[in-house]
Amino acid sequence: MPKNPSRPSDPQVAMQATFDKLHTAQSTQALEQIRIETIGKKGILTEYFSTLKSLPEAEKKQLATSLNSLRKEFEEHFQAKLMELESKELESALSAQGIDVSLFNLSSKRGIGHPINYTKDKIIEYFTRMGYELCEGPLVEDDFHNFSALNLPEYHPARDMQDTFYFHDNKLLRTHTSPVQIRTMLDQKPPIKMICPGETFRRDYDLTHSPMFHQVEGLVVDKTGAVNFAHLKYVLESFLHYMFGDVKVRFRSSFFPFTEPSAEVDISCVFCQGNGCRVCSHTGWLEVLGCGMVDDNVFRAVGYEDVSGYAFGMGVERLCMLSLGIGDLRSFFETDLRLLEQF
Ligand code: PHE
Repeated sequence: MPKNPSRPSDPQVAMQATFDKLHTAQSTQALEQIRIETIGKKGILTEYFSTLKSLPEAEKKQLATSLNSLRKEFEEHFQAKLMELESKELESALSAQGIDVSLFNLSSKRGIGHPINYTKDKIIEYFTRMGYELCEGPLVEDDFHNFSALNLPEYHPARDMQDTFYFHDNKLLRTHTSPVQIRTMLDQKPPIKMICPGETFRRDYDLTHSPMFHQVEGLVVDKTGAVNFAHLKYVLESFLHYMFGDVKVRFRSSFFPFTEPSAEVDISCVFCQGNGCRVCSHTGWLEVLGCGMVDDNVFRAVGYEDVSGYAFGMGVERLCMLSLGIGDLRSFFETDLRLLEQF
């Protein structure tokens, strides 16, 4: 019998009130009190357990079984209620302190794209949306694809314009992305409408030149007469407005061995709006592109007949420097995060 004479002899009945209290407890403190009153030193269940030793064997066994299962049931309900009340209390403590755990953590750094890639992607996006196919080619080229097929025979003085990194055995690092145009024409039949972005290499290193740089070139070829200079002019003008906004665009006649007629394209200076400043050498203009109608000798080299086409090429670094106002090209390659993070 329990020491407390007012307690019912059946522990099941006695525990009913405990379970009721447990389920309606409002705080972990109240819960702890219930635990003490139930399985603490002087707790109800503890007292029932202490009566076991004075009982005859058969009754002892029966009561022990029922007490053990009551204790197990109590502990399970107690743990569940404890977890529920603890998380409620944590939540209200946090909201009282004003801590928002979903707040963005300013100390964590997010990766950012490199300005060169950003500019390259912007160029690619324009032309692919206009239906140009994206083509790529090898960085290590041979003399045929990089020079001869582009109307630059061995004795041609234009080869001096591009100081080249040569390997033995007639191989070289491509000096422009034009060899990709040759490869595409050799692989496919006209009509062709493609751009080729990628790394290019020349022996140059100063404020505005680096030995490795990026170009995007474009080529459109169709039957004779279907493609003309007016198309080229329209495409490049609208591209430059997309890149630089409301600038003036002018075509200046020029020379490239692979195009005839050829032109260089200038935009009104984005720094002084064409008034003249140090960046544009006080001319009011900035050169941004080379272009022209593909020379017949190039078509001959790839076995094309009765076609006409235009080609254009641009330096990604130059467009990037002009559109972001960066003065020294070398800062792109120094991987100084203080500079790169500004973009
Ligand atoms: N390949 C030229 C260069 O690297 C650029 C260019 C391409 C010019 C196509 C005209 C036409 O300078």
